[in-house]
Amino acid sequence: MTLLAKSAQGKGGPDAIFAYSDMANKRAAEIGRENITNATIGAFLDEKGKVLTLKAVEESMRGLDFSDSVTYAPLKGMPRFIEAVIDATFGDYRPQGYISAIASPGGTGAIHNAFYNYLNRGEVCITTDYCWGNYRTMLREMDCTLETFRTFKDEHFDVESCLAKAGEVAQKQQNVFMLLNTPAHNPTGFSVTDEEWDEVIKGLKAINQNGKNNVVLLVDIAYIDFAGKDARRFMQKFSDLPENFLTLFTFSLSKGYTLYGYRLGALVAVSSSAEVIAEFDKATAASSRATWSNCSKAAMMVMCDFADHAEKMAAFKAQQEALSQNLKQRAEIFVNEAKACGLVTLPYQSGFFLMVPTDTVEIAQEAARLLREEDIFLVPLGKGLRVALCAIVEEKITGLAERINEALKKAQAK
Ligand SMILES: Cc1ncc(COP(=O)(O)O)c(C=O)c1O
Repeated sequence: MTLLAKSAQGKGGPDAIFAYSDMANKRAAEIGRENITNATIGAFLDEKGKVLTLKAVEESMRGLDFSDSVTYAPLKGMPRFIEAVIDATFGDYRPQGYISAIASPGGTGAIHNAFYNYLNRGEVCITTDYCWGNYRTMLREMDCTLETFRTFKDEHFDVESCLAKAGEVAQKQQNVFMLLNTPAHNPTGFSVTDEEWDEVIKGLKAINQNGKNNVVLLVDIAYIDFAGKDARRFMQKFSDLPENFLTLFTFSLSKGYTLYGYRLGALVAVSSSAEVIAEFDKATAASSRATWSNCSKAAMMVMCDFADHAEKMAAFKAQQEALSQNLKQRAEIFVNEAKACGLVTLPYQSGFFLMVPTDTVEIAQEAARLLREEDIFLVPLGKGLRVALCAIVEEKITGLAERINEALKKAQAK
C-alpha cells in the first residue's frame, strides 16, 4: 500500500556514501577510530576526526548579538551579505554585466532555485558523468532529469562531448541548462581550464545564437576556496554575453567558511540584460519564500562582520588559505605515492575528493570490500573509488595509494 502521491513514489532509498560512512563508524566503535582509515566523509577533519573550523569564523560567531542573530533575515538576504557574497564569489575577477544574488540554504538551496526556475517539468539538465549524486535527487524532486556527457578525454575535460550533449538538448528544449562543478570538482578534483572555458563558452554562444535556444549555465563553485589563487580567473569570461545567455554561480559557506550545518549560501546571477536579472530576483526570491523562507541570519552576520572589518577579513583569509594548503599537502602525498606505485587516478588538481577509476562497477565494489577488511573505508561510486582526502590526515594518507592498488589488483583478478 502507498499513500504517497504518484510523483513521490519510488524515490529515496539507501545512499552509498552514508552507508559506507555508517560501516566506518560502526567499525570505529569496535576497534577505535585511530585504528581505521575513514575516507568516506565530505568534511574537512583533523586527526581526531573532528571537523576543522576557522578561528576567525568561530570568534565572529561568538561575538554576535544573540537576539539579533536569531531574528528573521530579509528573504533575499541582508543587503550587506549580498554585497559580500558577490565580492567573495568573484574576487578580483568580477565579470561585466548586471549581477545579483539571492540567499539560499547552502549551495544545495541555490542549485534547487536554479533548477526550479529555469527548467520546465520533464526537462533535462546536463552535466559531467562523474558528478555529485544529489543533482539527480534534486532534479527528480521536480520531475526533471539529469543527463550526462563524458567528463574526460584522455587527461582533459571533454569539451567536445560536453558541447555535443548541449547541441542534442537544444533540439528538445528551449533552455539548454548546463551544470559544471568546477573548480575542484566533486568527486574527481578536476577543474575546467581557462582555455577549455573559452571553447565551452564559444560553443554555447553558437547554440544560443540560433534564434531558438537560451543558455543557462550553472557553475557550482562549492569547493572554490580550496582551488588556489587563480581559481576565479575564468569568471571574467562571463562578461557581456548575449542577453539569452544567463550564468549562475552557487555560492556556499559550508566548506570555505566551515559552516556546513548553518546552511547558508546564495545563487549569484550574471547577465548583460537588466530585465533578465530583475526576473531572476523576483522568481528566485519567490521560490525561497515558498520553500524554506529565509536563511540563517547568524551566518549572514558573520560574513557582514568580515566585510566591515578589514582585520577580521585578513585573519579569515589567512586561516582559509592555511586550510587550503593543508588539503594540498594531503593531496600531494596521495598523488605522488599513486604515481610511484602505478595507481591510476582521474585528473586531480584540487579539492576534497579524488577518484580512482575502475573498469567496472563490480571491481569498484569488490575493491572497496577488500579494503574494508583492512579497515580502510572508501566509497565505491559507479566505476571508481572515491577517496575523501579532506577526511584523513597525512599519516593515514601515507601508504594508502599502495593499499588501494593492491586491493584493485586482487579485485581485477577475481
Ligand atoms: C558538488 C557539490 N555542490 C554543492 C554542494 C552543496 O553543499 P551545501 O549545500 O552544504 O552548501 C556540495 C556538498 O557536498 C557538493 O559536493
